[in-house]
Amino acid sequence: METVFSLEALRGRIQGWRREGARIALVPTMGNLHAGHISLLERARSLADKTVVSIFVNPIQFGKGEDYARYPSTLEADQQKLAAAGLDLLFAPNLSQLYPGGIEEDTRVTVPGLSTLLCGQYRPGHFSGVATVVSKLLINVQPDVALFGEKDYQQLLVIKRMVQDLLMPTEVLGMPIVREPDGLAMSSRNSYLSAEERARASAIHRALLIAAEKLRQGGHSLIAIETAAMADLASRGFRPEYFSVRRAVDLDPPRTGDQMLQVLTAAWLGGARLIDNIRVELDRPLEQA
Ligand code: PAJ
Repeated sequence: METVFSLEALRGRIQGWRREGARIALVPTMGNLHAGHISLLERARSLADKTVVSIFVNPIQFGKGEDYARYPSTLEADQQKLAAAGLDLLFAPNLSQLYPGGIEEDTRVTVPGLSTLLCGQYRPGHFSGVATVVSKLLINVQPDVALFGEKDYQQLLVIKRMVQDLLMPTEVLGMPIVREPDGLAMSSRNSYLSAEERARASAIHRALLIAAEKLRQGGHSLIAIETAAMADLASRGFRPEYFSVRRAVDLDPPRTGDQMLQVLTAAWLGGARLIDNIRVELDRPLEQA
């Protein structure tokens, strides 16, 4: 596996592969890799001749007072995991490679609407930061396919919309959430949990499973399901931001007749902001939203 740090070197490798007619996949990450990231890489390798993983902790998607400065950086361990998984090329740029003019006056890509819901309410500017950096990566790698995890479900929809609206010639694929044995979604941020918090953290997944079950049973209002889950998480020491039943397709509030729902939540546990979600496909269309 080769690691390149500059756009120039990245573009050189990509050009060579394109001349050979290779199909190229991209998996963008912020590093501190776990089995969730590796599952994206493995799928990418099955779909393409050459796979690029990027590692870049993108400052503009972090809000003031968020964890940018303490986000774990583990390049050597990441390189070992990627090499073991058979990666072709790691792109690990520094800040000035991706933001040569600095971050203040940099051009931003914004997906309206979707970016302001749910996590967007609590992290203003976050999805614009994500859309901007993913644009830079897609423009320079020009992959045939780019893979993202459903763990960050809203992010996946934002990127799908951006690629569609900007006519980018890349297919965006969402991949299932990889979980720890107790159900906690794998995340680099789980390392912020103390042992005691970690033992309680799987309650967030259980709350989603309970909500999904109630939705399938019917007879519960959406608001009752959401309120009960918020109260349950709060009683277990979480500080929930939202617990929300939405339409899977666009994250709007469900309407009568909808069948494909997504339940999404964000909750703080100690110093970690955890997010998780679950798909609920109803047997029958929703009778009353
Ligand atoms: P990061 O949090 O490192 O995640 C990189 C990719 O791995 C994302 O597509 C994310 O959804 C996926 N992922 C993380 N945990 C997962 C899990 N448990 N199961 C499956 N997939 C998982 O998301 C980002 O970085 C950044 O916002 C990025 C897209 C790289 C832009 O900076």
